[in-house]
Amino acid sequence: MDSTELLSSDDRGVAEAARLIRGGRLVAFPTETVYGLGADATQDGAVARVFQAKNRPSFNPLIVHVASIDDAKVHGSFDQAALALADAFWPGPLTLILDLERGSPVSNLVTAGTGKIALRVPDQALAERILLAANRPIAAPSANPSGRLSPTSAVHVIAGLGGQVDAVIDGGPCPLGLESTIVATGDRPLLLRPGAIERDRIEEALGQEISLPERGEGPAAPGQLAAHYAPRVPLRIDADEASDGESYLGFGPGAADANLSKTADLVEAAANLFRLLHALDSTGKPIAVAPIPEVGLGVAINDRLRRAATPKS
Ligand code: TXA
Ligand code: MG
Repeated sequence: MDSTELLSSDDRGVAEAARLIRGGRLVAFPTETVYGLGADATQDGAVARVFQAKNRPSFNPLIVHVASIDDAKVHGSFDQAALALADAFWPGPLTLILDLERGSPVSNLVTAGTGKIALRVPDQALAERILLAANRPIAAPSANPSGRLSPTSAVHVIAGLGGQVDAVIDGGPCPLGLESTIVATGDRPLLLRPGAIERDRIEEALGQEISLPERGEGPAAPGQLAAHYAPRVPLRIDADEASDGESYLGFGPGAADANLSKTADLVEAAANLFRLLHALDSTGKPIAVAPIPEVGLGVAINDRLRRAATPKS
């Protein structure tokens, strides 16, 4: 494919997005977290195209987006903890890793043959309209080349994947700007990826503590490789100031080339994180990032920053 169509968020754009998805094509669309690269999860060919477009290793499974808990139950087997979390946070930025239901029509490529499926009901009107119009489960990893920064605008998607996707539907910037929190339930609930919902809110809904996976424990989430979410330029974290030649990404008051939040607000910082990293990345200068407190959404922000700072081998 050589050109990417930009669709508007009106009914015509939604109908066209649904038609393309049902036809096995790729359509990037916004969610409340980041833009996803959508494909019909039931078609092997469509799912294979997602891996190809992102240059993503095919052992890395994909999140499946559905419009409701009832739709999710077709694909995943919900234990009590999963039900409690879905009730508390769906629609919303929570991804549940569940045992695959035997009758689920999703492609084996989606689960990477793991027997586990990642499911999410997004909280974004445009995403919901597309899901309803397509009437299919939609596999959608973040719409960026594998290992790169997640996109929080249609412009980011086109900059990273233009020509590789059939269409992008423009729904403006993503309000949360940080990927979903990923939880695997089972005997011992595991927090596989810190994200837009903080750990203590998950624990409150579960009525128990949630563990971080120990080395090798839990369903493999290859997206959790140490080096991930990386800009092209080197990135240095916990920096109190920039060194020569670096640009400075600040947090809180004080001089900076860009600021995650001048008032040190972590919600605002999360929403700005990928947009500002994309912007600084495009200047070509190495980036130094101010320290971010390891509380609330700061945990997920620091997780992404540490991965972005890990050199790729
Ligand atoms: O907010 C989000 O979650 C966004 C939006 C588009 O929904 N999606 C997203 O997808 O961040 P992605 O593919 O960039 O990250 C999903 C993570 C990956 O680390 C992947 O390895 C893991 O979820 N994952 C997906 N399916 C899995 C499964 N069956 N078992 C274990 N991990 C899984
Ligand atoms: Mg991703």
